[in-house]
Amino acid sequence: MSPLPTFSTMAPEAGLKQAMALSRPDIIETMKQSGLKGRGGAGFPTGMKWNFAAAAQAEEKFVICNADEGEPGTFKDRVILQDHADLVFEGMTIAGKAIGAKEGIVFLRGEYTYLRSQLEAVLDRRRKQKLLGKAILGSDLEFDIRIFMGAGAYICGEETALIEALEGFRGEPRNRPPFPVNTGFLGRPSIVNNVETLASAACILQKGVDWWKATGTEHSTGIKIFSVSGDCGKPGVYEFPMGITVAQLLKEVAGEGAKAVQVGGASGLCIPASQFQRAIAFEDIPTGGSIIVFGQQRDMLDVLHNFLDFFVDESCGQCTPCRLGNRKLLEGVELLKEGKCSMAYLQELCALGDTMQIASKCGLGQSSPSAFLSVVKNFREELMGRTYSHV
Ligand SMILES: Cc1cc2nc3c(=O)[nH]c(=O)nc-3n(C[C@H](O)[C@H](O)[C@H](O)COP(=O)(O)O)c2cc1C
Ligand code: SF4
Repeated sequence: MSPLPTFSTMAPEAGLKQAMALSRPDIIETMKQSGLKGRGGAGFPTGMKWNFAAAAQAEEKFVICNADEGEPGTFKDRVILQDHADLVFEGMTIAGKAIGAKEGIVFLRGEYTYLRSQLEAVLDRRRKQKLLGKAILGSDLEFDIRIFMGAGAYICGEETALIEALEGFRGEPRNRPPFPVNTGFLGRPSIVNNVETLASAACILQKGVDWWKATGTEHSTGIKIFSVSGDCGKPGVYEFPMGITVAQLLKEVAGEGAKAVQVGGASGLCIPASQFQRAIAFEDIPTGGSIIVFGQQRDMLDVLHNFLDFFVDESCGQCTPCRLGNRKLLEGVELLKEGKCSMAYLQELCALGDTMQIASKCGLGQSSPSAFLSVVKNFREELMGRTYSHV
């Protein structure tokens, strides 16, 4: 049984049939009106992204589904692909019609290779049902989807690195602009959307804008799928309304009494108990859906050590702030653990984190200091007790 009630209640292909009856601008207008924001983490408005790609002049365009899911603590896209692949492919087909693309590509995380045969079977069935290929549902719409296997690098989830990898190059982020909506895969206009975003788009086409906007907040509409792990009684994949507070979420997952919650994975924010009334929404605490609960027994320096170790490993090394900055932050955490970091040096590390957020080339280096900075800010007393002057 799928843990995702909204996706489970969708009628097969009702969103696609609805989209077939609409013009391309009307599909895009529906997406804009829904207020749907990208579920991959950055929260970019989906209707606006589709509009940019639709407006771009080119003979060939692409719809890319980002199923690289590598953020620590995130596993909801795996469940969506496992239980609701049809909805994701339906969303991709709707996006194909909206922007004028004939080809869709799923960039599937290398570690999810075991899902491939199941997904290929769904694609084959959809071709037989005339839901993919030429003359979809008897119309003049042509669209098909293929699967491309990632090779296990976190950075390939970044949309321009993903496109480089699709083209057969090392997965390294590109300079932006130009953006993929204008110059994407093979230099053609391309939209890159998260698995959940595409499934949500199919739901919106089926049930309508008002239904979607009845859930969530003014600036973060609809439902959101969360991956919950860590020190709680009921870890797993959940559907909650956007705008749920951290405290409400903890109650649902039997995580009351937590010391802190990491919202948004290793690159997200570490929220202390004093802020559990804050809302998980783009206007307050943004997230791609990763929630990691830390119990009272957790040492926040162990948490940071773990995250920074990951970023040192996963940095592609192209730009200095990220390549060296993450190493310096990791060394700083090690010094703190050994009681050899002075307060002045801790402040320098915070300034380094600020610089990384501004000067790094892509989202990895721009967000990797977030956990460090939020732990220093929110657990100041705990850390001060570990600095050199206190030993
Ligand atoms: C290092 C890094 C890893 C990322 N990994 C993913 C990922 O696994 N899945 C995803 O959808 N977006 C990921 N993103 C965000 C994508 O670059 C992009 O914003 C997203 O796929 C856009 O889809 P959306 O608008 O539907 O959210 C990552 C970004 C960065 C910087
Ligand atoms: S920020 Fe990090 S991952 Fe991104 S381009 Fe620079 S070195 Fe590579």
